[in-house]
Amino acid sequence: MGEEIATKDSVSQRIAAGAHARERARGWFKYPVRSRVSSRYDERETATSRSLCLEVGLALCGRPPSRLLDVGCGGGALLERAREVLPEAELAGVDPVEPAIAAAERRFGGDPGILLSVMAAEDLARQKDRFGHFDLILVHLSLALWNDPLQGLTRLTEMLAPGGTCYVVDLLRPESWDGKTIPEGMGAADEEERDYLRDQLAASLAMEEFRGIADETARRTGTRAEVRRGGLGGHPPGSAEAGRIWAGSPRIAGLLASRGAALAGSSQIDSVAHLVITNPGGRRDA
Ligand SMILES: C[S@@+](CC[C@H](N)C(=O)[O-])C[C@H]1O[C@@H](n2cnc3c(N)ncnc32)[C@H](O)[C@@H]1O
Repeated sequence: MGEEIATKDSVSQRIAAGAHARERARGWFKYPVRSRVSSRYDERETATSRSLCLEVGLALCGRPPSRLLDVGCGGGALLERAREVLPEAELAGVDPVEPAIAAAERRFGGDPGILLSVMAAEDLARQKDRFGHFDLILVHLSLALWNDPLQGLTRLTEMLAPGGTCYVVDLLRPESWDGKTIPEGMGAADEEERDYLRDQLAASLAMEEFRGIADETARRTGTRAEVRRGGLGGHPPGSAEAGRIWAGSPRIAGLLASRGAALAGSSQIDSVAHLVITNPGGRRDA
């Protein structure tokens, strides 16, 4: 019990210590001049990772979700792909940046099967009745920006349907990072993009912080949480688990064929953490 409290306190302390860095990193999505830089970089460099997040999430989910939520959805690129592969599903997306949600609304042109809302992850709990429960919740490159990642993730986990899965993909802080150097493999094209990435890396979580947040979320909500680094959904290429994920989503092969060789060999793949939370309560396939 004493140990449990000590672990929880150290996670909270670490989160509190990163508040300023997170606020600075969020500025790149909030302010027009900087958000042009972040959009340009993200559209070019993170599109494959975004598509893989959806496909691996679908494979982990085990069956087509009837309700899917994308938290920190930006302009709705992941939801657009989700709509292509899940024409019948109810989709939802939230992001605290108003122009991002306005862009997503334009993208979907009033599709009644998509609920979009200007909202931070931490505030979703207040609207639980409006949003309901989800079979699959995805968080792509957003968790480390939240004001309170532990609180936000706990609230999201409470919104998982029985048997549901929450899959988080996020930038991992490089070990012994000097606070300045941007890893080559991240593909920054100019000084503005390097400034953007420097602030994102400064806010990013280290592996042990991911583990602390995952363990504490699981403890609070009675769910299972696992954190891994790199690979396919956190599993090394060629492993049985990666093979199962691969087999679970026919489109992964195509995605990896287009960028895969470069991706698998690059430092990008190792610079990402995968956090999977499953709500075992009354599994749908039980
Ligand atoms: C790097 S972008 C990723 C956008 C999108 N997930 C994608 O992959 O294209 C990070 C997003 O997280 C959003 N964000 C920042 N703070 C958030 C919070 N507290 N709750 C939810 N989303 C947040 C930002 O506004 C931004 O749209």
